[in-house]
Amino acid sequence: MKLHAAILALFAQLGAAVVVASIVFFSHAGMDEGGFSMWQIAGMQGMLAAMAGYMLGMAWWWFPINLLFLPAVLLVQQVQLPAVIYLAGFLMLLAFNWGVIHTRVPLYLSRREVWKQVESLLPADEPYSLIDIGSGLGGMLLHLDRVRPMGVHEGVEISPAPWLISRILAFMQGARATFTRNDYRQLDLSGYDIVFAFLSPLVMQDLLVKASQEMRPGTLLLSLAFPLPGINHDFVIQAGEGDRQKLYGWRVRPDISIDYPEHLSLDIANLAH
Ligand SMILES: C[S@@+](CC[C@H](N)C(=O)[O-])C[C@H]1O[C@@H](n2cnc3c(N)ncnc32)[C@H](O)[C@@H]1O
Repeated sequence: MKLHAAILALFAQLGAAVVVASIVFFSHAGMDEGGFSMWQIAGMQGMLAAMAGYMLGMAWWWFPINLLFLPAVLLVQQVQLPAVIYLAGFLMLLAFNWGVIHTRVPLYLSRREVWKQVESLLPADEPYSLIDIGSGLGGMLLHLDRVRPMGVHEGVEISPAPWLISRILAFMQGARATFTRNDYRQLDLSGYDIVFAFLSPLVMQDLLVKASQEMRPGTLLLSLAFPLPGINHDFVIQAGEGDRQKLYGWRVRPDISIDYPEHLSLDIANLAH
């Protein structure tokens, strides 16, 4: 059974807390005075939690989170920050994670290895149009823009902060790729030869329905990390280590037959084809 990362982080912190509490307790027992300062305790806790997270197989980027969690809590408690800083932090979080509120899809960036695999699927000397639905900071599209000059690359992103960053990066690099702030669910996907999605398992079924209704037969739907439920993919490319680096490809077909009783719209899509 695969536990959610937040649960593992909780285990790591709790495990570290037990060890730190024992160290503090037994060292106090042997001392007449003194003992550990709060900062030392927080430092020990952070180091042990980070190591525990590593041993529990958590992704590398949890290491600094586990390490700094308790020291950060302590710091915030000790430094009397003005309330406006908390508000600014909250708004910043919101600006980066608007997609979580709307579609429950967080910002999580794809890697260069994946961009290279997508690149290898694209024609080098023919025009085509590709859209990244949920384009984040725009990294993949800016890369494709450099290596596939005949392609038209579009990104749509719901969260204001990543969208703004992608616009600024595109401007600074003089890229042709365009970035729009919108909800991909509002878009008509019929105009694209390739649709790339790196979203969440929670939306894959709806995406498949939308794609099968709107995309032209023979065009390509690519999903990074999350398989399209209930269909046979045309290919699966392992772009790096782990399931997060799997690129699922499906050529939209008129003869799609998927058993989704809860999705009447898909039956309509099948009839329409
Ligand atoms: C996992 S990230 C992928 C970022 C980028 N495609 C990449 O490969 O690096 C998913 C992105 O989709 C955005 N998103 C979530 N729901 C969306 C929606 N309904 N419409 C447009 N973007 C959305 C999120 O804000 C987030 O930036």
